[in-house]
Amino acid sequence: MSTASHPVTILGTGSSVPARVVTNEELSRTVDTSHEWIYSRTGITERRIAGTDESASEMGARAGRAAIEAAGLAPSEIDAVIACTMTPDMPFPSTACLIQQKLGLPTRTAFDLQAACSGFVYGLEVASALIQAGVHRHVLLVGTERISSIIDWTDRSTCVLFGDGAGAVVLGRGVAHDQGVIGVKTGADGSDAKLLFMPGGGSSVPASAESIAARQHFLRMNGREVFKHAVLVMEEIALDLLREHGVLRGEIDLVIPHQANFRIIDTLASRLEIPYSKFFVNLDRYGNTSAASIPLAIDEAVKAERLRPGQLVLLLAFGAGLTWGAALLRWPGNK
Ligand code: ACO
Repeated sequence: MSTASHPVTILGTGSSVPARVVTNEELSRTVDTSHEWIYSRTGITERRIAGTDESASEMGARAGRAAIEAAGLAPSEIDAVIACTMTPDMPFPSTACLIQQKLGLPTRTAFDLQAACSGFVYGLEVASALIQAGVHRHVLLVGTERISSIIDWTDRSTCVLFGDGAGAVVLGRGVAHDQGVIGVKTGADGSDAKLLFMPGGGSSVPASAESIAARQHFLRMNGREVFKHAVLVMEEIALDLLREHGVLRGEIDLVIPHQANFRIIDTLASRLEIPYSKFFVNLDRYGNTSAASIPLAIDEAVKAERLRPGQLVLLLAFGAGLTWGAALLRWPGNK
């Protein structure tokens, strides 16, 4: 292991979403809701729902393959794969091991990271530290979720919000510390764990006839409280990160926030005094894809040329835990 701190950058991006589109109209045929309610409260018009062959590892592998190709690397050059997910294919082995096998990656480090919707920013912190320390040269960081598997499709207050998908980036050594990944900051507060959680399926409430009858294997959320916390902690961590790196909010070219609800993003934009037009939003087409949301948005922003070389980019995440995080990137390549 080298003792130098290596700069870290993003070498390639990729994403993959299920083929099946479920519109608000389609949902309103099975639950007591409407397109008007969903769109006005969230900004969501449709989401993707995985088919039987679209597991979290399969979508993650597809996104990962695209990111490795975009990086111009061979699978043999990937030293580690980190899969950020709260909907792994199974409790063990890790989804990262399944992705490693599907992509034919070297038999080196592979593990899952669980920080719910903040997973990708947490993963960025861990992957960057591994590269900075010289432990690994190239890390495949995947955010992949099959949230449809933990949704109570009879609960209108949650089922309209989420969708499935995956995004991935390949991280490697950059040229300078003020390029690529400039800084990452994360936070957590377990005292609010029950604002957003799934009570069953873990070791405290294993699957049983009773737990299934009590619908304990589905996500539960206090939407209003989650909304309030999301805005406050994302604002605070964004300002802390910018201050630490001497960056003024006016210098930010693009904000890629966790795609949960346009009203959260709009409120955040006002509080941060960064115009909403600088926020990349694709939640209208995917809903909340949890740990996949930011890398999926990054890949779309790159393909749409909203994210261009030389731009200063702020990532903002929030999720169950509660967890949150922010990252500052100078997008690689020449202006
Ligand atoms: N269709 C129609 N009516 C609905 C629906 C629906 N899909 N869902 C709820 N309602 C009703 C409620 O029953 C309630 O009716 P009532 O007044 O008769 O009791 C009314 O609409 C208002 O419900 P609220 O929950 O107060 O609605 P609110 O304006 O707070 O919006 C929402 C709900 C959209 C969930 C909002 O609170 C929100 O976006 N919260 C943040 C959620 C979030 O981002 N979670 C993800 C975090 S990331 C992670 O880690 C997974």
